[in-house]
Amino acid sequence: MDFSKETIFTGARSHKKFDGNALSDEDMRAIYELTKLAPTANNSCPLRIVFVNTNESMEKLASCALDFNQDKTRTAGSAAILGYDLNFYSQFHYLAPHMKQPTAHASWPIERIERYALANANLQAGFLIAASRALGFDCGPMGGFDAPTLESEFFHETSWRFSCVILLGRGDTSALHPRAPRLEFEDACRVI
Ligand SMILES: Cc1cc2nc3c(=O)[nH]c(=O)nc-3n(C[C@H](O)[C@H](O)[C@H](O)COP(=O)(O)O)c2cc1C
Repeated sequence: MDFSKETIFTGARSHKKFDGNALSDEDMRAIYELTKLAPTANNSCPLRIVFVNTNESMEKLASCALDFNQDKTRTAGSAAILGYDLNFYSQFHYLAPHMKQPTAHASWPIERIERYALANANLQAGFLIAASRALGFDCGPMGGFDAPTLESEFFHETSWRFSCVILLGRGDTSALHPRAPRLEFEDACRVI
């Protein structure tokens, strides 16, 4: 495992082309074992993941991608479909036994539930990317999928909603464009 700055940040890129090899069951479990440690509000852990790991299921995933993401998806042997569970609070008895009102979230308006679940699941998504990189895998995060189709194909009979897809495996660095700039500290931050 390599938690160096270069592996997780400075040397890591968002890959668009992979070598097609799938992860092992152990690899997927190792990624989740680190991802699950992300901090979330009330330890709500709303992230849900469908790991896609066969040619057939990767092809099904590619067919849910918007045009510009279909070929990219077909190059990868594995992917994690990330979702957030609108019913996350049903796990509070286990995840947050310290909570005084574990059923309070059930009465929230759906917009508030959705915002809370997505915000916290996205924190976990960042950890998943960092964990995957530390374990030696490249990531290709992509949001451009037909969400209703993807949800009916992969999240049917659940209360999960689509967030994004992370292609996983060995990326082809020769297919990358130069890294785009980031905002400077002065443009993105205030110190008060
Ligand atoms: C939530 C999310 C959605 C993204 N959606 C797409 C996408 O649909 N297609 C794509 O090619 N790249 C997508 N990207 C990749 C971004 O363009 C990429 O992370 C960004 O340009 C930074 O690239 P870098 O990590 O190589 O510096 C997405 C990234 C994130 C985090």
